[in-house]
This record gives sequence, C-alpha cells and structure tokens, in this order.
Amino acid sequence: MKTLSLELKGVSKYFPGVRALDKVSFDVAAGEIHGLVGENGAGKSTLMGVASGALIPTEGEVILAGTRLNGGTETARDLGLAIVRQEPSLMPDLTVAENMYVGLPPEQRPSPARASRVTDDIL
Ligand SMILES: Nc1ncnc2c1ncn2[C@@H]1O[C@H](COP(=O)(O)OP(=O)(O)OP(=O)(O)O)[C@@H](O)[C@H]1O
Ligand SMILES: [Mg+2]
Repeated sequence: MKTLSLELKGVSKYFPGVRALDKVSFDVAAGEIHGLVGENGAGKSTLMGVASGALIPTEGEVILAGTRLNGGTETARDLGLAIVRQEPSLMPDLTVAENMYVGLPPEQRPSPARASRVTDDIL
C-alpha cells in the first residue's frame, strides 16, 4: 500500500465573491513529484496555501502524513510540508529588519532589542 504524504479531500475555498476552489481532491504519495497546471486565477496558489496551512479551507480536509491539519504553517512544516512561494511576501509597512525578523522561525528570532543589529550582520 502507498504511504500518502498529502491528502486533500473535497477542498473548497471561498473568498468574498470568489469560489477559488470547488471540491478539490488530490493525493500525493511519498516520493512522487507533481506539477499543478492551470491558468491565472485557477486556484493553484490557493490550493497550495490550504495544503501548507496558510489558508483554512471553507470545506473539506487536509491530511498530512496521516494527521488532519486544521491550518497552521508551523504544524504543516512539522508534518513535512513547507512551501516556497511564487511571489515574495514582503510587508511593505514594516522595516527591512522587521520583515527579516518575522521571516525567521520563532526559535531563531533574536530578541527585539537585537533585531536590527542581527539584520545588519546578515546584510
Ligand atoms: N486573499 C484573497 N482574497 C480574495 N480573492 C482571492 C484571494 N486569493 C486568491 N483569490 C482569488 O481566488 C482565485 C484563485 O487565485 P489563485 O491565486 O489561487 O490562482 P493561481 O492559479 O495561483 O493564479 P496565478 O497563476 O496567477 O498564480 C482568483 O480568482 C483570485 O483572485
Ligand atoms: Mg499563483
């Protein structure tokens, strides 16, 4: 029997006025590589957002390595699914140091007082 790394079951996602996903089911077995193809706005990023815990589906479920995910990118990462995004996700209202700070995993974040020094060192 195949070990399933990711199971999407009947996943729908509605945004105000937009049905981005309509009952999508998709299984990924360990070791498989998939390409997800669709026109602009087809829902690819939304589907990956749901799979990686960044978005909570309106209906349906996401199961990672046998565990049902109820949103949460850190939980998804702990279960083996992380995402490299198509678009950089910078927050324009934050400083460079603040953007770098929130981009670090919590256990690697410096104390707020040291954040700008750490940014200087990295840059
Ligand atoms: N946060 C949001 N709020 C409202 N509508 C959204 C949001 N995110 C996506 N949508 C809408 O959901 C639909 C699917 O968008 P999505 O970004 O998932 O498509 P995509 O297949 O990744 O497109 P692209 O090829 O342009 O990256 C589109 O109609 C989009 O406008
Ligand atoms: Mg996209």
